[in-house]
Amino acid sequence: MSEAENLDRDEPISFGCPRMVGEARLPAYDRLRSEAPVYKDPLTGNYVLTRYKDVRSTLLNHRQFKTDAGLVGGNRKSPVKAEVEAIYLAKGPLPGRNLQTYDPPEHRQHRAPIDRAFDHWKLEALRGFIEEQANFLVDGFIERGEVEFVSEFTIPFPLRVFADQLGLGMEDASLLKLWADVGVEDIDPTLPPDRQVEAAHVMAGMNEYLQKAIANARAHPGDRLISKLVETIDPEGTQAGLIEIMAVLRAIIIAAGDTTTFGLGGGMRLLMGNPHLVPVIRDDRDKLLAFVEEALRIVSPLQTLFRCAAEDVAIGGVTIPKGAIIEARYGAGDLDPEVFPCPYQVDLERENVRSHVVFGVAPHICPGMLLARTEMEIAFKVMTQRMDNFRPARGADSYEYSTSYIAHGPVRAHIAFDRR
Ligand code: HEM
Repeated sequence: MSEAENLDRDEPISFGCPRMVGEARLPAYDRLRSEAPVYKDPLTGNYVLTRYKDVRSTLLNHRQFKTDAGLVGGNRKSPVKAEVEAIYLAKGPLPGRNLQTYDPPEHRQHRAPIDRAFDHWKLEALRGFIEEQANFLVDGFIERGEVEFVSEFTIPFPLRVFADQLGLGMEDASLLKLWADVGVEDIDPTLPPDRQVEAAHVMAGMNEYLQKAIANARAHPGDRLISKLVETIDPEGTQAGLIEIMAVLRAIIIAAGDTTTFGLGGGMRLLMGNPHLVPVIRDDRDKLLAFVEEALRIVSPLQTLFRCAAEDVAIGGVTIPKGAIIEARYGAGDLDPEVFPCPYQVDLERENVRSHVVFGVAPHICPGMLLARTEMEIAFKVMTQRMDNFRPARGADSYEYSTSYIAHGPVRAHIAFDRR
């Protein structure tokens, strides 16, 4: 049965509706893809794309679809814009333009230092450290035969790796989580003004913290990411350079936040639904890597980001007016049966297993994808080598999903297992 058949046909679809979150989006994607693949959302006014080919070609077409959709923090057109700016200015400079708001050729200039800094991440050398973190967390719950997987693994695991790689202390890992959560919420086009003000307080606090961390990295250079960003972006220590580094760090912290967490939690649920795959991915690394790709494709931790039409432009016969916001729904494109037959099935033999748009496409393709993939690979390796027979521990109440507009994945997952 198509997921679309689960949808209430009398109700117009809107992703701005508070109920249209988590897995409730899936039937809407299926229906829109076949009935209105370029759909004007009645609540947000945004144009929602659900076909793989439209999502992909829009992301690639940076001439007609600009990345700056005017939705990011201080950059937002909002009745509380002045108040938000004052909150930021009280704690440091106004946020610089986010990496994700530039288009080529300017984007290349801002992206290059990040690619260079990320190149310093010798992920192969890091694998041992990442595996240690996974084992450390598993040690904390393996005796119990049951775990709340999100708070005990999917959140702390990538955060511990990320805090270490940024050059921050483990004790600050929980701050990264808060900033990432609020940062993602702050991009929500439906965020009410009072919440925009609260978000500005949190994100201004992050800016204050980052200024100190950057000063510290400048005074004591090391091999971690903040030091590398100082070295590649602003060796002279200018105010413009400081703003640029802070903007990059903001982008990285937000982008790295829940994404891997949701990939891990959603992937575990898929594994529970396909128990025959546990020994397969345990014993065969190629299959494990394919499982990671399929989990990412089906879960799609980042459901959508936005583009802005630079001119009137037609997609699939629908004219999108200049200035309109487009939602390139990665999550819907990657479930397009035209490209991924039986899209909800985990198929480790899929020929195009890496063709998904989970990490976007050039030029904004995710610079953290290698880290995210490595973390997921190691997590599922450690899980399947040390445990077996994963199952929901509390029936239908075992899993609860995020209500984010943008992100998608479990925020609670009670899982039982057998120790091997
Ligand atoms: C499963 C995990 C992840 C997913 C699904 C994901 C997804 C994405 C997607 C779809 C984009 C493209 C945005 C666009 O089209 O405008 C992106 C960009 C980005 N991601 Fe990730 N990401 C993940 C993990 C990470 C990690 C771990 C980091 C950092 C360590 C990171 C840093 C970034 C940054 C900085 C950008 C902006 C790139 C640019 O605009 O040029 N991401 N990510």
